[in-house]
Amino acid sequence: EKTRKELMLKASEIHSTPHAKVTVVGLGAVGMAGTYGMMIQGVASELVLIEAEHMTDKLEGEVMDLQHGMTFCRNVNIVGGSDYSKTAGSKVCVVTAGLRQKEGQTRLELIQGNAQLFKKIIPELVKYSPDCTLIIVSNPVDVLTWLAWKISKLPWQRVIGTGTMLDSSRFRYYVSDKLGVSPNSVHGYIIGEHGDSSVPVWSGLNVGGTRIVEANPDIGTEKDDENWNLIHKDVVESAGTIIKKKGYTSWAIGTTISHLVHNILKNTHSVLPLSINVKGLYGIKEDMFLSNPCVIGENGIEQIFKLRLNAEEQSKLQKSADAIGEVMKGVKL
Ligand code: 2OP
Repeated sequence: EKTRKELMLKASEIHSTPHAKVTVVGLGAVGMAGTYGMMIQGVASELVLIEAEHMTDKLEGEVMDLQHGMTFCRNVNIVGGSDYSKTAGSKVCVVTAGLRQKEGQTRLELIQGNAQLFKKIIPELVKYSPDCTLIIVSNPVDVLTWLAWKISKLPWQRVIGTGTMLDSSRFRYYVSDKLGVSPNSVHGYIIGEHGDSSVPVWSGLNVGGTRIVEANPDIGTEKDDENWNLIHKDVVESAGTIIKKKGYTSWAIGTTISHLVHNILKNTHSVLPLSINVKGLYGIKEDMFLSNPCVIGENGIEQIFKLRLNAEEQSKLQKSADAIGEVMKGVKL
């Protein structure tokens, strides 16, 4: 205190009202990749990392390790703990906690264990940040986003799953690689389940202001002798392939998290494929979360795109909805 007084004249009380406070629950590979992404991209002013009681050493180590790089990043205050009161006033809460796919396991098979965990995590987050936007990453993300919405009782516009944001990024990357252009210049969406029944919207895929289907009317179909449809197969198998090689996926889902939080906090009104309540879209009659392009801002989902799906895309989307509906039936609220 004496040194501080010698150094500086006090001009006003120090306030710390969080204006871009983000909580991350779960500090496995995905939670840490998302946190690191937000730190180096200067997305948040305050990051609160929450882990279960038994992980405190790991948590303290991760927080220290991040703090020691702070001089090279735009200012962000990072704290950690297992006490949810530290999360109070968060604008966005990201949930990555839970079991992750093992080799040969589908995301849908993770539901029972992760649903139980959500019944503990979600009420705590909403208790301290009732005005936050929840971002769900844990798998199966579409079912867990629906569950988070039911448990939190927040408006569905503020309960969002990363969904096929990652699948669409993989899709755009593979198409860009085939065409020799930047991934940022390829625009297209995968919708539906973040997983095996996802739906590539080949009819909307475009680059340089041109729909690729106009250059190759058979694109995405069995009739296509260039087999572009194998790109979607690669997308669906991506996580399994990476899990086989390195044991888990983290970096692409981490940048997905950072990009999504950035677009919420900066109120960009960007269009992203997100897992949202699609009741009333494409003939879906019950509350169900699947990915669809929508406009995102500081209060969550602002607009939802009504895609002109062709017959095959519509039928695949119905299959995706059926797969998610089946798993939802097994979840005890
Ligand atoms: C992924 O697709 C694990 O769902 C995550 O990488």
